Amino acid sequence: MSTQDTISKTKNYLMNTYGRYPIAMVRGKGSWIWDSEGKKYLDFITGIAVNNLGHCHPKVTKAIVDQSKKLVQPCNLFHIEQQGEFAQMLVENSFADKVFFCNSGAEANEGAIKLARIWGTNNGGKYKIVHARDSFHGRTMGALSATSKKYQAGFKPLVPGFKPIAYDKIEALEKALEDKKVCAVILEPIQGENGVILPADNYLKKVRALCTKKKVLLIFDEVQVGIGRTGKLFAYEHYGIKPDIMTLSKALGGGIPCGAFLTTNKIAKNLSPGMHGTTLGGNPLAMSAGKAVLDTINEEGLLDGATESGEYFLDQLQALKDKYKKEIKEVRGKGLILGIEFKNNETAKAVVEKCIDKGLLTILTVQKVMRILPPLNVKKAEIEQAVKTIDKALKEVTDA
Ligand SMILES: Cc1ncc(COP(=O)(O)O)c(C=O)c1O
Repeated sequence: MSTQDTISKTKNYLMNTYGRYPIAMVRGKGSWIWDSEGKKYLDFITGIAVNNLGHCHPKVTKAIVDQSKKLVQPCNLFHIEQQGEFAQMLVENSFADKVFFCNSGAEANEGAIKLARIWGTNNGGKYKIVHARDSFHGRTMGALSATSKKYQAGFKPLVPGFKPIAYDKIEALEKALEDKKVCAVILEPIQGENGVILPADNYLKKVRALCTKKKVLLIFDEVQVGIGRTGKLFAYEHYGIKPDIMTLSKALGGGIPCGAFLTTNKIAKNLSPGMHGTTLGGNPLAMSAGKAVLDTINEEGLLDGATESGEYFLDQLQALKDKYKKEIKEVRGKGLILGIEFKNNETAKAVVEKCIDKGLLTILTVQKVMRILPPLNVKKAEIEQAVKTIDKALKEVTDA
C-alpha cells in the first residue's frame, strides 16, 4: 500500500489521538526500520523503549511463531505453564517474590495503585498516593491522576487521593508524608517522558529511607527504564535500594503487549481471588516472547553492552555539546536512555525533524529534549553514524 493510502486510511478510520509524521513503517531488522517507500532509518526510538533487542530479534520471533502454533490464550481460569516460568525469571532477577501480568504500562500502574490501596486499607485506612508533578505513568484514569497536569486537562474529575510533589526534592516528600493518610509514593527512578531527568545521586536512597520510616510503600515505575535500558535489568539496582512494588511493560514482551507489577510476599498477600484480574494479561504468546527477551539479554551480555555503548554515546554527545555550546544546554543519560536538551524549542524541533529526513529516528520530548533510545545491542558504528547525523542536522539548522 502506498504511504498516501495508509495516511488517508488513518485519517478516515482512526481517532485523531496521535501527532504522526507522514511516514508509514512496514519492516524492521535490528537497529533499522524501513518505510513504505523503501527508505531505511536508524531507529533510535525503538518503539519508544520497546524493541530493546532491536526489531525482529530471531530468538523473540521464533518464540512468538512457535507459541502461536501451540496456544495463544486459554484464559486465567487455568494454570499457564509460561506464566509461572516467566514470573520465576523475573522474581529470580529482582527484589520481588510475586508477579501479576497485564498488558500495558498504564495497566501495570493501575494494578500497583490498587495493590497499594488495598495494603493501605488493611494498614490503618491509608489511601493517598504521592507522585511527582511532572511524571508520566499512563493515560487510564488512575495512572493519569498520578501524571503531569498537561495530560489531565479536560478529563476531570480525576481519581481522588493523589498528591503531586516536586521530583528530586526530598523536602517536598518529607512534607507530603506528614499526612498520615498516604499509603504509597510512585516515582520513575529516571523520568523518561519528562525529558530524561536523572535525580541527584542520593535522592532515591533518601526516598527509600523516608518511605520505610513513615511506613509508606515505594512504587517504582520502570515501564520505560526497566528491562536493561539503563545497563542494569532494573534501574533501581543502580541506587543500592529496593522498591516495594515495581511496574514494567514496553520492552517486557519484546513488542507483544505485556505489562506486570511485582512485589514482595508480604504485600502480595493483601490480594486474593476476585480482587484483580485481566482477560488477556499473562497469555502464553506474551509470556514466551518475554522469556526470550530475558534469555537473550542474559545470553548476549546485553546489560554490559548497554553500559559500554551508553558511556561511549554520552561521550560523543558531550563532544557535540562542546561544539554547539550556543545551541545545546545539556546532554545526559544512563545506559541507553539519553537526552540532548536544547536551549531553544525551535532548534530542538528542527534538529529532530532534520535527523528524520536524514534517516535517524529520535523523539522530541517536552519540546526541547531529543530523547535517544537505541536498542541494547546497538553497534558502535551505528552510534557513530547517529552522532554524525545529529552533527550535520545541527550544522544545517544553525547555518540557516
Ligand atoms: C514511565 C512510564 N510509565 C507508564 C507508561 C504508560 O505505558 P503504556 O503506554 O504502555 O500504557 C509510560 C509510557 O510512555 C511510561 O514511560
